[in-house]
Amino acid sequence: MPADRISGKEMAAEVRDALTREVEELKKKGVTPGMALILVGGAEDSALYVRSKAKKCEEVGGYAEVHHLGDDATIDEIMGLIDRLNKDEKIHGILVQLPLPEHLHQYEKQVMDAILPEKDIDAFHPMNLGNLMIGDDCYLGVTANACIKMLENINVDFKGKHAVVVGWSIEIGKPVTMMLFERGCAVTLVHPDQDFVPYTKQADIIITEVGRPRAITGDMIKPGAIVIDTGSNWVDGKSVGDVDYDSAAEVAAAITPVPGGVGPMRIIMLIYNLVEAAKRLSGE
Ligand code: GUN
Repeated sequence: MPADRISGKEMAAEVRDALTREVEELKKKGVTPGMALILVGGAEDSALYVRSKAKKCEEVGGYAEVHHLGDDATIDEIMGLIDRLNKDEKIHGILVQLPLPEHLHQYEKQVMDAILPEKDIDAFHPMNLGNLMIGDDCYLGVTANACIKMLENINVDFKGKHAVVVGWSIEIGKPVTMMLFERGCAVTLVHPDQDFVPYTKQADIIITEVGRPRAITGDMIKPGAIVIDTGSNWVDGKSVGDVDYDSAAEVAAAITPVPGGVGPMRIIMLIYNLVEAAKRLSGE
């Protein structure tokens, strides 16, 4: 029997509708969730992502402002802007789109650390990542949280399951490992550059952040596994997942497609963090 297809589109629309209702209630109390997006330089794909994030914020009734700095922006300019936004009461969430241009790469950590943890809707600040480790209140990485929400939505029973995360980053692999662990899974985190096959073959749940198209095929998956593919690899102008959907769908119980799986959930989970931030900062 082919695997169930876990679509992110309907799920994202449900989250969006719930957030729209929540924003409506917040606005009645005088609070409009406000997001500031900082884009440095002229990378077309980054500009596109930033526009989609601002649009999604406005779609749920929030306020979004985009600060587009030139390719020649200095670190002092960026830090000055973050400082202003940290103090701006109408801004509840700040996001600096990564990567920064080449000459600013070395400052990415400094930039992420400068955002107030309470306004860090990407959840890249050490305070949010550290609190996740401790099990304390924090914002959750948007893609990691999207994976968990998708698993919860199909009523996965996490307790005692072996989850294998093929990943590495502070946005996906590391936070989702902690989130699965907190839910009672035994979790293996394996870097995509290692031989991950012995691990994926044993997994009840697989989360991928491989960064290579169709790197995981059906023969690397245990029959009945649930597979969440966060990959988006460009092949011949199309977005292709880390998992070879067709062969994986023959053995898995459920699997996310690419496109149309985790992708649609990512931006809406960012807006989810923004609404959380607005509630926390306003005390509502
Ligand atoms: N660039 C690619 N993905 C992301 C993201 O999730 N957040 C930020 N700030 N930049 C990105």
